[in-house]
Amino acid sequence: MKLVILYLLLHLLHIHQVTSAENCNFFNGSWVFDSSYPHYNSTTCPFIEHVFNCQRNGRPDEMYLKYRWQPQDCQLQRFCGSDFLLRFKGKSIMFVGDSLSRNQYQSLLCLLYTSMPGIKYKEMRSGDISVVHFLDYEVQVKLDRNLFLVDVARDKDKIGRVLVLDSVAGKARHWLVNDVLVFNTFAWWGRRRSKQPWDFIKLGDKIMKDMDRLAALETGLTTWARWADAAVNPNKTRVFFQTLSPAHYNGSEWDEPHTRNCGRETKPVLGSIYHGNLPWGLGIQKKILSKIKNPAFKLFDITHLSQFRKDAHPSAYGEFGRTGMDCLHWCVAGVTDAWNEILYNIFL
Ligand SMILES: *[C@@H]1O[C@H](CO)[C@@H](O)[C@H](O)[C@H]1NC(C)=O
Ligand SMILES: *[C@@H]1O[C@H](CO)[C@@H](O)[C@H](O)[C@H]1NC(C)=O
Ligand SMILES: *[C@@H]1O[C@H](CO)[C@@H](O)[C@H](O)[C@H]1NC(C)=O
Ligand SMILES: *[C@@H]1O[C@H](CO)[C@@H](O)[C@H](O)[C@H]1NC(C)=O
Repeated sequence: MKLVILYLLLHLLHIHQVTSAENCNFFNGSWVFDSSYPHYNSTTCPFIEHVFNCQRNGRPDEMYLKYRWQPQDCQLQRFCGSDFLLRFKGKSIMFVGDSLSRNQYQSLLCLLYTSMPGIKYKEMRSGDISVVHFLDYEVQVKLDRNLFLVDVARDKDKIGRVLVLDSVAGKARHWLVNDVLVFNTFAWWGRRRSKQPWDFIKLGDKIMKDMDRLAALETGLTTWARWADAAVNPNKTRVFFQTLSPAHYNGSEWDEPHTRNCGRETKPVLGSIYHGNLPWGLGIQKKILSKIKNPAFKLFDITHLSQFRKDAHPSAYGEFGRTGMDCLHWCVAGVTDAWNEILYNIFL
């Protein structure tokens, strides 16, 4: 009798474990110190551009490399490059978005490249699209540099660059051929003057010099969401939208009210509570994206988990070196590896 109960108990525990891993929210948890990280030494990865290459740019501390994301309710399996390449044999993965997509793209390339010494690859670039083809596995990792996801029509009617809020037609055919798509857009919607990469906004037949930027973002993202809902074939493609990546320019968010940037941060916020609010833009993204019914779609909700990592930005070891203070992008190796580790686990 005792044995039967024990058996039933073990059985129940087992079932419980399985269901909780399946239903686990990978995006809720905390960062834990783990001396077996990072996954690779960034000096051995040929894909990291200057802006993300903190170690090469002279960043002296290394503690920030040694944290692993631990979901609250389950265990993540460690990223395994050889397994990833086998699982995605013959397939292609494309990141579409701004420099934060580039950040994650280069991290995935490093994770794959450093896991297989001597792996053969071919690199190609055509316009905004880059491809790294890992030849022996026939795996292609791609990047589409795309700030708004909706079209920017160039030179049309000679009036200049036009941000077309109700169309993604310009690029969608390059997207749909892939097996995995990871999109992001946010940071550029608010940019003005010399940092604004368009001259007019078009919606329907109306052409405007400018409009409320929040409304523009909502309209543009809704266009994208409608496309994802209608155009993506769930039997072929999985489509993710990466929520906005948090910056660290306000020390009040981590109990250092006089701190104005991430320049002296060498440790993450530990524990599972971050005092800063979730960025306002996240609510808008979630509201619009929650309407997508296509089973191919999943929200890739990295905002909250990345908020803890005030220590993991390039700071004075990024694009502009000591004259800059980059608390927006992420050092590679680092946080974007964790994003890719979660992406990997979604496919296990
Ligand atoms: C994380 O889990 C805790 C406890 O279950 C919950 O209170 C909290 O809302 C969750 N946070 C997120 C971002 O999902
Ligand atoms: C990475 O490799 C370089 C060169 O071999 C070495 O100097 C450095 O200490 C290594 N960094 C880490 C974090 O292991
Ligand atoms: C996906 O596959 C299922 C089952 O084979 C099929 O019924 C469905 O029509 C397919 N959907 C699309 C959009 O091709
Ligand atoms: C900094 O963050 C605090 C706490 O979230 C907030 O109250 C404050 O308005 C923020 N300051 C700025 C300049 O954004």
